[in-house]
Amino acid sequence: MKGKTCVVTGTTSGIGKETAVALAAAGARVAIVCRTRDKGERALDEIRQRSGGDVILFLADLGSQRAVRALAARLTTALPRVDVLVNNAGLILDERLLTEDGLETTFAVNHIGYFLLSRLLEPKLLASAPARVVNVASRAHHGATIRFDDLMGARSYDGWKAYAQSKLANIVFTYELARRLAGTGVTANCLHPGVIASNFGSAGPALIRLGVRIGRPLMKSSARGAETPIYLASSPEVEGVSGKYFVNRRAARSSDESYDPAVAARLWKVSEELTAASDVP
Ligand SMILES: NC(=O)c1ccc[n+]([C@@H]2O[C@H](COP(=O)([O-])OP(=O)(O)OC[C@H]3O[C@@H](n4cnc5c(N)ncnc54)[C@H](OP(=O)(O)O)[C@@H]3O)[C@@H](O)[C@H]2O)c1
Repeated sequence: MKGKTCVVTGTTSGIGKETAVALAAAGARVAIVCRTRDKGERALDEIRQRSGGDVILFLADLGSQRAVRALAARLTTALPRVDVLVNNAGLILDERLLTEDGLETTFAVNHIGYFLLSRLLEPKLLASAPARVVNVASRAHHGATIRFDDLMGARSYDGWKAYAQSKLANIVFTYELARRLAGTGVTANCLHPGVIASNFGSAGPALIRLGVRIGRPLMKSSARGAETPIYLASSPEVEGVSGKYFVNRRAARSSDESYDPAVAARLWKVSEELTAASDVP
């Protein structure tokens, strides 16, 4: 990965931190994106120390479109190239909270955060081609649907359903992005990392917190969870491969709804409207 620059979001813990460590240890310059300065600086120190690599910190709350736009501008100015973007930051919430943009927070961080950052970094990725977008999704998308009539859960909210919908959106978005980027040298793939003992679920519904506590001994480590993102970000085996969902470093089938082009077109349009990003090249 020498000479490559990777942007990885959500690196204060879990899968994102381990992905950043591995990519930096492999020689890439890694720009980590964290929400708060104190956790970000702690993560920066640890990732630098464990990888011995070139790591730089950027701060942004990915639930704020203003912050994502400012982040993209800073990344674009600071980094001569972006070879890999790993959209990883994500969360599940117990209660319905709105962002400053008026969006339900799970949808805003987990889907709109991926969508907007990818779109804003697209010129940089295109200029750095061959380049890769890697979206960390989840097996939780199976059984989920994108509720276009109540995307923000205003009529009925369930933390798990909001999460599962956002992870389905990650996959639908990845497939549509791959179609739109076909022939450019920029690929887009997504993945399920496994069931991982990270900080995931700490702000989630009580049942999820309980399940995580009980199931923890059976879960895989964050380092194991990072294996597929690292593979998609760096392996020559997936050079040129695009528009796929991976589990355990193998292409896998995602849910039927995730392949529906009408759902993809509608999600893209709504996402553009919600971010007013149609002017993004
Ligand atoms: N763990 C699993 O079993 C599992 C399974 C399937 C998929 N996933 C997916 O894997 C990804 C990583 O999760 P993880 O398991 O590593 O969980 P984690 O340890 O909780 O890490 C999540 C990361 O996202 C960051 N983040 C959350 N909200 C953010 C925001 N508004 N702005 C910026 N950063 C934000 C967190 O930062 P803070 O420290 O500031 O909160 C943290 O760095 C997620 O997309 C998740 O959906 C996880």
